[in-house]
Amino acid sequence: MKEKNCIITGGTSGLGLALVKKFINNNFFIHIIAKDNNKIQKLTNYFHGRNIKSFKFYQADLAEKNELNKVILQIKNLDNIDVLINNAGALFLKREVNSEEVEKTFAVNYLSHFYLTISLIDVIKKTKNSRIVNVSSMVHKFAKLDLSDMNFSTNYNGYIAYFNSKLMNLLFSYKINRIYNDCINCYAIHPGWLNTNFGNNNHSKIRFLSNFIRNIFAKKPSYVADKIFNICSNQECLNYSGKYLVINKIAKSSDLSYNENLQDELWQKSLKMIETHKNEIK
Ligand SMILES: NC(=O)c1ccc[n+]([C@@H]2O[C@H](COP(=O)([O-])OP(=O)(O)OC[C@H]3O[C@@H](n4cnc5c(N)ncnc54)[C@H](OP(=O)(O)O)[C@@H]3O)[C@@H](O)[C@H]2O)c1
Repeated sequence: MKEKNCIITGGTSGLGLALVKKFINNNFFIHIIAKDNNKIQKLTNYFHGRNIKSFKFYQADLAEKNELNKVILQIKNLDNIDVLINNAGALFLKREVNSEEVEKTFAVNYLSHFYLTISLIDVIKKTKNSRIVNVSSMVHKFAKLDLSDMNFSTNYNGYIAYFNSKLMNLLFSYKINRIYNDCINCYAIHPGWLNTNFGNNNHSKIRFLSNFIRNIFAKKPSYVADKIFNICSNQECLNYSGKYLVINKIAKSSDLSYNENLQDELWQKSLKMIETHKNEIK
């Protein structure tokens, strides 16, 4: 029997790490795209200590297309990609840009995942019952998307940039479903409020307090990882394709997210942004 492959971004912390453990425990080979070398080393030791061999790390900062490009060149020749989980995400309260002057919330949360997905689409397409999971958020409902300034070059607000990126994850999911609904199952998921490291890259005077509250009230990532795993492995969930899920329940996303003109415009603009790199990986 063919080994099942799952590819995940941001598998070193929070929801991503819980998903990595869940998929490994259920006989998947997991390919983990992660940024932080220390975390990669620590997890490698953790898996080796448990005699787990069904994983491979690929180090890349998703903000940098060149780094992601190198990873894509390594994984695009896999025979089958059963599950792709576009999970990595970050909030940048202060505007930061990558080496190509692209704003980082947009680059990490959305564009890198668009690029990864498009680059692997042929393998995903030919894998029977393949799944793409885009980790979005219910905060997409507060987006103020302006596709003429995806780089958020004026009046930057970190929260709005984050909300916009989560709306883009949804628009992208719906578009994938419109194009590939006969061969790929694609879901956009709000994972709920989770007890993770999310947001801790920003300096905050109230971090201790907010982490304390999160520790008590937010959901455990492993709880949500179990639900997402079920969606990715259960035959009955195949008809969830093209849907927005709140954890594992079908829900309605914002009216804007269903706007097909907006989905098409974002798709075209994103294709243009990745064009040079796409030619390199052919
Ligand atoms: N936590 C919540 O309540 C919540 C709610 C709704 C949606 N979400 C979404 O859930 C997803 C997972 O977040 P989480 O809560 O598990 O947060 P987390 O604990 O901070 O995990 C985020 C992961 O993304 C990785 N990542 C961030 N920037 C990266 C980059 N430039 N290149 C490569 N990897 C990068 C992080 O790696 P490093 O540690 O190396 O940076 C980490 O592994 C995100 O998409 C988030 O938007 C979370």
